[in-house]
Amino acid sequence: MLRPRYTLLTALFALLPLGTAGAQNVDSLLAAMTLEEKLGQLNLLSAGGNASPEQTVLVRRGLVGGLFNVLGTENTRAVDRVATTESRLKIPLLFGLDVIHGFRTIFPIPLAEAGAFDPELAEATARAAGREAAAAGINWTFAPMVDIARDPRWGRIAEGSGEDPYLASLLAAARVRGFQESILATAKHFAAYGAAEAGRDYNTADVSQRTLREVYLPPFKAAVDAGAATLMSAFNDIGGVPASGNAWLTDTVLRREWGFRGMVVSDWTSIAELIPHGVAASRAEAGRRALTAGVDMDMESRIYVDSLPALVRANRISLAVVDRAVRRVLRAKARMAQLRPVAPNAVEIRALARRAARESIVLLKNEGGLLPLAPAVPAIAVIGPLADNRLDPLGPWHTDGRPEDVVTVLQGIKSRVSSGTQVLYAQGAGIEDTSTAGFADAVAAARGAKVAILVLGERHDMSGEAASRSSLGLPGVQQQLLEAVAATGTPVVLVLMNGRPLILEWAVEHVPAIVEAWFLGVESGNATADVLFGDVDPSGRLPVTFPRALGQIPLYYNHRNTGRPPAAEKYTSKYIDVPVTPRYPFGYGLSYTTFAYRDLKLGAARIGPRDTLTVSVTVTNTGTREGTEVVQLYVRDEVASVARPVRELKGFRRVTLKPGEARTVELRLAARDLAFYGLDMRPVVEPGTFRVFVGSNSAEGLEATFTLAGPP
Ligand code: BGC
Repeated sequence: MLRPRYTLLTALFALLPLGTAGAQNVDSLLAAMTLEEKLGQLNLLSAGGNASPEQTVLVRRGLVGGLFNVLGTENTRAVDRVATTESRLKIPLLFGLDVIHGFRTIFPIPLAEAGAFDPELAEATARAAGREAAAAGINWTFAPMVDIARDPRWGRIAEGSGEDPYLASLLAAARVRGFQESILATAKHFAAYGAAEAGRDYNTADVSQRTLREVYLPPFKAAVDAGAATLMSAFNDIGGVPASGNAWLTDTVLRREWGFRGMVVSDWTSIAELIPHGVAASRAEAGRRALTAGVDMDMESRIYVDSLPALVRANRISLAVVDRAVRRVLRAKARMAQLRPVAPNAVEIRALARRAARESIVLLKNEGGLLPLAPAVPAIAVIGPLADNRLDPLGPWHTDGRPEDVVTVLQGIKSRVSSGTQVLYAQGAGIEDTSTAGFADAVAAARGAKVAILVLGERHDMSGEAASRSSLGLPGVQQQLLEAVAATGTPVVLVLMNGRPLILEWAVEHVPAIVEAWFLGVESGNATADVLFGDVDPSGRLPVTFPRALGQIPLYYNHRNTGRPPAAEKYTSKYIDVPVTPRYPFGYGLSYTTFAYRDLKLGAARIGPRDTLTVSVTVTNTGTREGTEVVQLYVRDEVASVARPVRELKGFRRVTLKPGEARTVELRLAARDLAFYGLDMRPVVEPGTFRVFVGSNSAEGLEATFTLAGPP
């Protein structure tokens, strides 16, 4: 155990438990505060590495509640000391940071990790990241990002868990639990930030209340139920009401319906942005709207601290609204003071990074069993701008991650092949370059080898915030590089590093093997080599749909049917120039072995509204190698008062089977898992017939039906 960092806390805070006594302490503290000190607690400022002299003065005067982007234990200690010994009330600071997928040890981006379909893994990586961050003085992360995303143009799709609310909810809860062992978590961005129109970051989201409640809100609810200390309000508006000034969201739904007792922080200047949104004419009005809506802490707008004192004095905002927010911030600090961060173990964390990276890799294509490669292959070409690249595998938001910690694919391969194997490396081109000058070397390397591994994709900052793309092909001349290398006739394995689904049509037609390696973090190269050489079976599955064409977007598996489902006839819902189906569906991913499903059995043909149905299926490894399958359970409500999605994920299980081994997998489906929002917008479980699908992905599987009876 680390010595708790909070030895400098005032007696008041050191004694703050979360219960009644804590509430009393918060109340007595509140009673002692001036209006300026209260609003100071609501002020959150970015420090750019270290607190500036101006920020230090504000801290001393009690006009700052938290700082973020203070890096290094010495820096956090120094400014915390100012708060806890030199300010009048000696209230400690919150130290926030975007610890998204690792602090120093960078794990796969969250989208990649979602593909592991492994909440226990997500909890473990969040826990490790929390430990590392806490050891550097951080006590609050702005993660997990739990926004559902159905549009791969949106760069922030990389930071979340993909398109499915069920998987995303399990991972949201797991990450909250993991982080909150050592630091406070923030579920963000509340809400519907991922629904940005046209995938353009910060854009308006126009989602129905039903879709909001059924698709975008569940991961937040799961985070709240898992005890998330804080939520962050989003930049976007929903149907004209900006999320950072939306009382329905941050008060009615979050606090009244869900019973959230924690604190809401705005996103970066999202309170000031109520002005350009067009819902506030002045900073004061923006501040009043946000605070009244339930946004307690003001990140970087400095509106609460600057503009609200005059409003309170003029009785234009009640002191009770201010006190409510201050109480929530103080309660979060009381919680922070109770954390007992655990010391990180570097060796264990590094091993976890390798496991997470391995589990996140998705094998998309493997014609003729080209993979796994034999380590004794005489010559292997490793080509591409991402093959020996130490920066980009870190992905967006890599916090304290360092390129020197990254094992590249080239290094991973070199350390795995037999001593006699020649590894021929050529960069070929840059990620976004227009020059083809390096092609000749790449072609020569491929010609001299038995197999060519092409590592292509995006730069780390082509996804993440403000990184929307209008095309989803390989950037720069990488497509031409791929074609030039493929033209040599040497079999090509395309390894992709990217933060979003790409459109891969040419590769799918011409390249025998495709490996989706996302941005896997520090163990990127080792994990990729582990999979390429078959030391582990690829067990990642797509947490998001891969389209065939840009014009299909948004494309997601859990869509509703139309009155004219796609069929051969002309007047049905489809395109005239591209199939209606995705290139790779949600849940898809190959293994080096094959699995057969049989004997899908339901525990009952009919269940009551309080029952749980047992769904069992026998999965057999029909290949010659050990492999891991992700068994997926989907449901369709055939007839309901409101049209239901064609399929919804309701359960999954990772199973590892030896060649020839068969296992009966049991999944459980509770009647309440079939609830949706009815015509009156209340949750309802309607009786009727449900179809169950169990299989390898969202587009296939064995089927059965059962009936849900109405109340007796
Ligand atoms: C992002 C947030 C992030 C914050 C602080 C904003 O621009 O939208 O996700 O937590 O900055 O860095």
